[in-house]
Amino acid sequence: MKRIPEPELMNTERQAGAYAMANFNNPNWLFVEHFKNSFSEKEIIGTILDLGCGPADISVRFARLFPKCHIHGVDGAESMLKYGQAAVANAGLTNRIRLIHGCLPDVRLPLAKYDAIISNNLLHHLAFPMALWETIKTYSKRGTPIMIMDIIRPGSKEEAGAIVEKYMGDESAILKKDFFNSLLAAYRVEEVQEQLRQADLVSHLSIRMVSRIQMVVKGIIS
Ligand SMILES: C[S@@+](CC[C@H](N)C(=O)[O-])C[C@H]1O[C@@H](n2cnc3c(N)ncnc32)[C@H](O)[C@@H]1O
Repeated sequence: MKRIPEPELMNTERQAGAYAMANFNNPNWLFVEHFKNSFSEKEIIGTILDLGCGPADISVRFARLFPKCHIHGVDGAESMLKYGQAAVANAGLTNRIRLIHGCLPDVRLPLAKYDAIISNNLLHHLAFPMALWETIKTYSKRGTPIMIMDIIRPGSKEEAGAIVEKYMGDESAILKKDFFNSLLAAYRVEEVQEQLRQADLVSHLSIRMVSRIQMVVKGIIS
């Protein structure tokens, strides 16, 4: 099945609200655990960049897991960041998490280089996926651990529908529709491999499927 793009930004109040209120406890926990296990030999200090941070649940989890770190979360959707700011304030982490409104690849970030870069479920939104890989190249340095997770486009719309029912059967209609559209917009492993090749990142990052519907791209910039 050919990729069917979806709008990049989750900028409507309805969409942002449904996403921010949804229970992503399991996938977000999995993301953090995967990072922790993948880079267990590295001391994570300094400032972590969370690209496409959305409602900042993962930013908050990283701030709690790495108490010596600051987090910069960036997102192009103001309505999403409103939920993010509330989550950061509720967690009492306004002194360590800074949310920045801006779009990849043009956003200008406060730091020239970051000590870790993470991103969950941003890639499939990007019409020009090189925006993600170029941003990573610009803002990483030697030793920066990188971890990107995203969904994988299934073979057909029918398969996408079955995945939505399996993983989001009990969620609201708007979330299910968003997830369906996201599955159709997602990249396949071989497409991401080609993106890495074009970005000259193949020797730094590798791709692995973590489930039938999810891949992780990770590594340390050398
Ligand atoms: C599916 S959400 C994921 C949010 C968060 N990472 C999480 O896992 O909960 C994707 C986010 O990426 C943002 N986004 C999409 N394209 C973007 C771009 N070009 N620059 C910045 N943010 C973008 C959307 O607004 C949305 O908040």
